[in-house]
Amino acid sequence: MIGHIYLWEEPADEKALRANLRGVPLIMNLWVDPEYRRQGIGTILMEASERRLRLRGHRRVALGVDTENKEAVRLYQDLAYIRWEHGEIETHRDHFLPTGHFVTTETCAIFVKCLTETARPPRADHHVQAL
Ligand SMILES: CC(C)(COP(=O)(O)OP(=O)(O)OC[C@H]1O[C@@H](n2cnc3c(N)ncnc32)[C@H](O)[C@@H]1OP(=O)(O)O)[C@@H](O)C(=O)NCCC(=O)NCCS
Repeated sequence: MIGHIYLWEEPADEKALRANLRGVPLIMNLWVDPEYRRQGIGTILMEASERRLRLRGHRRVALGVDTENKEAVRLYQDLAYIRWEHGEIETHRDHFLPTGHFVTTETCAIFVKCLTETARPPRADHHVQAL
């Protein structure tokens, strides 16, 4: 396995998500093996997830990300995710290790994407290249 992604269609654990994004599925646990990064695999996993959610009738998708995680934030922004206006929230992260399961909390910004808009906005640097 060189990467994984997790789709959550149940009500969110976090109250703020349930209140502001009712019925909106979450993308979680996106991870690509460091040896395989910057080859488009994260993007492939995200786009495959979005296609699956569209087929299942969802019109939006959301995810939480630590804003210090610049690589991930840039990936999501490239894919037309927009940061919501309700501030950062505390989220829970599950860790499944051979030695056992534990949960940590982290502060995340929430990004949301409308799945019904098909056109992908050009990236700023692509735009410059095109000029
Ligand atoms: C974030 C992560 C999933 C990206 O996976 P990836 O397969 O490298 O992603 P892609 O190759 O599809 O990259 C897509 C875009 O993301 C951004 N990006 C990814 N890695 C980056 C880096 N090291 N520096 C800057 N931008 C980066 C770029 O915009 C990139 O597009 P480009 O290569 O055309 O510039 C991977 O770095 C990872 O597993 N990180 C650790 C786990 C994690 O932080 N997950 C997200 C939790 S919210």
